Amino acid sequence: MISPKAIESFQQIHTPFYYYDLDLLRATLKEYTSHTSKHGYNAHFALKANADERVVSLIRDAGLGADCVSGNEVKLAVKYGFDPKKIVYAGVGKSDREIKDALKAGIFSFNCESVPEIKIINDFAKSMGKVANISLRINPDIDAHTHKYISTGLKENKFGISPWAFEDVYELFKTLKNIKLQGLHFHIGSQITELGVFKTMCTRIEELQKWFIDRNIAIENINCGGGLGIDYNDPDANPIPDFKNYFDIISKNLIVRPGQHVHFEPGRAIVGQCGSLITRVLYVKIGKEKKFVILDAGMNDLIRPALYQAHHGIQNLTSNKRKLIYDVVGPVCESSDCFGSKILLPTTERGDLVALRSAGAYGQVMAMKYNQRDLAKAYYSDDLLK
Ligand code: LLP
Repeated sequence: MISPKAIESFQQIHTPFYYYDLDLLRATLKEYTSHTSKHGYNAHFALKANADERVVSLIRDAGLGADCVSGNEVKLAVKYGFDPKKIVYAGVGKSDREIKDALKAGIFSFNCESVPEIKIINDFAKSMGKVANISLRINPDIDAHTHKYISTGLKENKFGISPWAFEDVYELFKTLKNIKLQGLHFHIGSQITELGVFKTMCTRIEELQKWFIDRNIAIENINCGGGLGIDYNDPDANPIPDFKNYFDIISKNLIVRPGQHVHFEPGRAIVGQCGSLITRVLYVKIGKEKKFVILDAGMNDLIRPALYQAHHGIQNLTSNKRKLIYDVVGPVCESSDCFGSKILLPTTERGDLVALRSAGAYGQVMAMKYNQRDLAKAYYSDDLLK
């Protein structure tokens, strides 16, 4: 819920901008960590979802580590004060420099996605006189029932090592002295709302880890990745995801062996609902068949609708007049710069403030300067509601 006081404060700010409700973030973290601590699970925040320093600092202070997918994310995590022993690093294309930097930083785990990558990490670790901790990111071939662009665990996806390559990996381990296999990693997709998918994942994890256990390879860590979805349709009814149900499913279905540690990499579920993109109406264009609300925020500020046909709640913050149907679009010269069609909104006029809700994850981090537009700044409830 965006409070009337917050809306009043928005009037003074140059739009568009990202607004973060840090109290909601705190409440989300409290709920999340109550479950992880109950089960003794470890969590690493997926920095790709949001890299804003104020947002990430609260997450770090709540005790989460960082899940990174590039060398620069690893550097940022170190700069933000995450303990390197809580940093995990995945990615199908880690460059030489990125590997060397992460080795220097002494991260907890390289989550390796191919056989050649393991060899290269071993070579660099050897030349630096180190032993790299690695986990195998396994492609479990599971349908996450989500948008195809954010599905990662199917065999046709580029991510992870497929079970048919296990023999090669096993042979390789016998020869490599500068890597230590310390875990298995799974991440099957994002915005997963059918929780049964996580049950299937647990069953598959058990099947797959047996292959290693049968060969006397101890698996100290199981990383279940991220992926839990949020309610984009009704953020005010469900501001905090159903962590209880999620962790109940995992704890009931994941077989954890003595001495094993379980890890998670939540992104969207932690930060999605605390962020909104606040924008102003530039024009209302009345066509023959449609009425267009033209915002001063575009797909360069929030690309999810254009890229994944994603729906973000659209809320006119300053009008409560009779409701009409509009197409809500941005100013960028692309037809896909559209935030929603046939949207029921109070009668909207130039100057009204509009919120694009649930934009805390994969919003600001995916912004770009297309059309030479400025990058939207961030503002925080802690400052605006003082
Ligand atoms: N771990 C790994 C290895 C990942 O690749 C991701 C996300 C996560 C964890 C965090 O997943 P989450 O809990 O946020 O679902 N830009 C897209 C989402 C891409 C997700 C990429 N990987 C979107 O806007 O929907």
